[in-house]
Amino acid sequence: MSTLAVYPGSFDPLTNGHVDIIARGARLFDRIVVAILVNAEKSPLFSTAERVEIARLVFKDMPSVEIDTFDGLLVDYVQRRDAQVIVRGLRAVSDFEFEFQMALMNQRLNGRIDTIFMMPAEQYTYISSRLIKEVFSLGGRVHGLVPDVVEQRLREKVSGRPPARRSPPGAGRKKGRKRA
Ligand code: PNS
Repeated sequence: MSTLAVYPGSFDPLTNGHVDIIARGARLFDRIVVAILVNAEKSPLFSTAERVEIARLVFKDMPSVEIDTFDGLLVDYVQRRDAQVIVRGLRAVSDFEFEFQMALMNQRLNGRIDTIFMMPAEQYTYISSRLIKEVFSLGGRVHGLVPDVVEQRLREKVSGRPPARRSPPGAGRKKGRKRA
């Protein structure tokens, strides 16, 4: 039987800590779904569509990693996907209480789904999406803490520019015109 794991979260934005957990999960499970919460209450920096696009770009070379969105109860989504495992990252003791509550509540809601906690590499244990947004918005350097595409998108958000269009190579080039 192949194991499908679901790694849920807000991913606003995706950090290298998340990427590290996903890569570890991809080694342990046959497939891992990065399930991005569609949260109508919070006002995220990146829209759901932007977060999906970023994650797809980051994991484009890892076919066992799937990017999806969900709303409603996580356990309902996990059951719908016929998955067996929820993956959550544990960075520090401070994460434990909330994660413990969530894992036990999810277990009560559906006893057939297990939560597995994974530790990121040590250098990512202090990173959170919230800190990344705060540090970046105040002019701090986040290089190496988030994927390059996230850094780029953060810059675009701050400068108010729309993301550069990603056309296939050669698309839109006029016939006979030399490349600049
Ligand atoms: O990255 P986050 O914000 O810590 O992720 C939290 C998330 C998305 C895993 C959690 O809020 C969640 O599962 N929300 C879905 C609603 C739900 O099932 N709530 C009960 C959880 S016990």
